[in-house]
Amino acid sequence: MKKQKRLVVGNWKMNPASLEEAKDLARDVKRGAGKLRKTQVVLCPPFVYLQALSGKTEGNLYLGAQDANQETFGSHTGEVSYSQLGQFGVKFVILGHSERRKMGETDEIINKKIKSVVAGGMSAIFCVGESTRDHNGDFFGTIKNQIFAGLKDISKKSADKIVVAYEPIWAVGAKESMAPRDLLETTIFIKKVLKDMYGVFSDDIRVLYGGSVDRVNADSLIRDGGVSGLLIGRESLRGKDFVEITKLVDSA
Ligand code: PGA
Repeated sequence: MKKQKRLVVGNWKMNPASLEEAKDLARDVKRGAGKLRKTQVVLCPPFVYLQALSGKTEGNLYLGAQDANQETFGSHTGEVSYSQLGQFGVKFVILGHSERRKMGETDEIINKKIKSVVAGGMSAIFCVGESTRDHNGDFFGTIKNQIFAGLKDISKKSADKIVVAYEPIWAVGAKESMAPRDLLETTIFIKKVLKDMYGVFSDDIRVLYGGSVDRVNADSLIRDGGVSGLLIGRESLRGKDFVEITKLVDSA
């Protein structure tokens, strides 16, 4: 596998409120992302904005989705198929986000979704993370089980289409991010689990961090946390700040 670029993903969630705002935000990011050398940027808007933003990405800027149904088509009210996303230029899909797990998405469903997305030629941004960081280290077991279950039967051949986003649930939508030195410990653990599974060098499957990233903490999370990139919620809705984070990641 060839060395992967760094990755900064903007998870817009159910924002912004209007298509005009979505277009403005994408335009601001596009301007800023043009000059990045070693970093890819992915914007993941709500499904309804994908078509309008399709074709507006180029170079280091990519379009992503926040979920995808594993079936190709059929009677699944309210769902969008992984295979329907490709026509809008979607290259990445966030899967297993904690906000979707909370709605009932199981490891088994997430595994099916990852398989479909990868088979469809897109990359899966596979979210894992514990709800509490206990002092006995039980959270390591939680993360390992999520990785095993989510990547079950996914071959080494597809491993470069997998991005693991470590998002400790207690740090998502919170006041503060995880401390970079604690992150480093978990990143090393995740890379070891992946290496045992696939036998690949640790940088081949990118590991991202997500959870209350902002322009103040982004630099040390990247430099000291051992990750290849960031998954960003709230701060991805502020174009200027998000672009600044992409530049910090690029120069770290
Ligand atoms: P946050 O969200 O950056 O607002 O904490 C991160 C995420 O949920 O992906």
